[in-house]
Amino acid sequence: MKIRPENKDDHDAISKTTIVAYEDYPFRQETEHQIIDDLRKADALTVSLVAVVEGQVVGHIAVSPVTISDGTSDWFGLGPISVLPEFQGLGIGGKLIKAGLSRVMNGIGGRGCVLVGPPNFYCMFGFANYPQLIHEDCPQELFLALPFKGRVPCGIVKFHPAFMQLAEVEKDVVVDVIIDYAMAGVKMDLENPTVQRLIEKGILMEMPGHKVIMRPAVLEEYDPILASLTQFRMTEMGRVHKNPFMAAIRS
Ligand SMILES: CC(C)(COP(=O)(O)OP(=O)(O)OC[C@H]1O[C@@H](n2cnc3c(N)ncnc32)[C@H](O)[C@@H]1OP(=O)(O)O)[C@@H](O)C(=O)NCCC(=O)NCCS
Repeated sequence: MKIRPENKDDHDAISKTTIVAYEDYPFRQETEHQIIDDLRKADALTVSLVAVVEGQVVGHIAVSPVTISDGTSDWFGLGPISVLPEFQGLGIGGKLIKAGLSRVMNGIGGRGCVLVGPPNFYCMFGFANYPQLIHEDCPQELFLALPFKGRVPCGIVKFHPAFMQLAEVEKDVVVDVIIDYAMAGVKMDLENPTVQRLIEKGILMEMPGHKVIMRPAVLEEYDPILASLTQFRMTEMGRVHKNPFMAAIRS
């Protein structure tokens, strides 16, 4: 098994490896491969290493810059990380993580790394939870950091905007809400995991009577086109609702 930086012929294999590896991961977003593609397009894929066995890409790790609200620079986010299921448990993931950390620390002079993942796995590499370091989009115990030098920063950590992605199923639900838009909210199955994920992301807000309303300002961060469609629909429906008032005023 060899670990090396990605080259342009690896892009498809990296996407496929990521999709297949994350299929059974309980916290998968279904957008992990899109994140890697968008990081690459934004020139923010600081480190991208592949694990190769007999010429086949079987694993991948991505590293990208993060921002921290206290102004600390040179910290990076690890992930997505994937190993094809038939190659898991052979130490490949561990080697990718160590190689990725070494690149950040020694190759680009990074001061530390963060990631979202299970503590019992990542503690093997020195990651730990630091209460003063917060990522608002996940439970605090899953947000882990590894300082290489200096003090641990104190603040809110934001991953690159490429991490703000909507899965196709999430876009479908958003479109349903846009189509059925009503001022008092749209009735939805709140047990539906996709609806729940959109509520967690803050894109939908729960209303009484099993209804949800859209928050276009939050949606804008994930998908500006769907956000402007929502705004358009809201304005259009607002006019419909205002008409009876206008009629009453005029009469
Ligand atoms: C996580 C992943 C990259 C590890 O790759 P790997 O090649 O299997 O890792 P290694 O062989 O070096 O290490 C395997 C060890 O990690 C443990 N491990 C793997 N995933 C774990 C998880 N989600 N939680 C806790 N431990 C985990 C295994 O139980 C195994 O432990 P053992 O050696 O004591 O049996 C791989 O399992 C994978 O692609 N998973 C799906 C995608 C994913 O979960 N990505 C990371 C999200 S944070």
